[in-house]
Amino acid sequence: MDNITREKTLAATAAVSRIKPNMIVGLGSGSTAEIAVQLLGEKVKNGMQITGVPSSVTTKKLAQTFDIPLITDAVPAKIDITIDGADEFDENLNLIKGGGGALLHEKIVASASRELIIIVDSRKTARPLGSSFHLPVEVIPYAHVIVEQTLCQLGSTPKLRRNNDKPFVTDEGNYILDCNFNTIANPQKLASDISQIPGVVEHGMFIGMATRIIIGSGETTRELQA
Ligand code: A5P
Repeated sequence: MDNITREKTLAATAAVSRIKPNMIVGLGSGSTAEIAVQLLGEKVKNGMQITGVPSSVTTKKLAQTFDIPLITDAVPAKIDITIDGADEFDENLNLIKGGGGALLHEKIVASASRELIIIVDSRKTARPLGSSFHLPVEVIPYAHVIVEQTLCQLGSTPKLRRNNDKPFVTDEGNYILDCNFNTIANPQKLASDISQIPGVVEHGMFIGMATRIIIGSGETTRELQA
């Protein structure tokens, strides 16, 4: 196992150790969250009863391979703990997510969760949002040209995410604009401005949602708490 995978596994192991029998568990997306799903699968195999709520089609398929009982039709109003990854976080535990394109379902699952545990490797450290990752904004295809123009007026240089020669399409059939805002001075204000643009479905800033960030670092983990 390479160093980064080991750090992801350490963070995932620490997060999964917080899962107790009969919990409803939100299952995040991305390579780090997938390790947590695999570890949860082992717990289920050993007899622990939990119910998972997957945040993407990819995670759903993975969880099914481990026979984790799932709720897939609609997100329940109460999820005990969600374990997910993040592309960036700041010292206030605000996040940017959506590098894998699952930000809409991830945010819905997170919003229902009593605890949102974020797991990352040591390449990710607390820094102002936007400093190292472009903000994904999910838009309905019909509106992507006009939304792109409005996002330019808000100070970014949006780029339509592509999958080879076609636009990348999310699980809900939408497009993603990756927006370079450089360092985002006021995430709350920008979040509110973007949410008001007609045609925007969701943006990748998760503000005030994470309760704990677990960072795999070398042979150990560090934690930040809200
Ligand atoms: C998926 O849409 C994302 O929000 C992921 O959680 C994020 O990209 C982190 O992925 P990794 O764990 O693969 O870095």
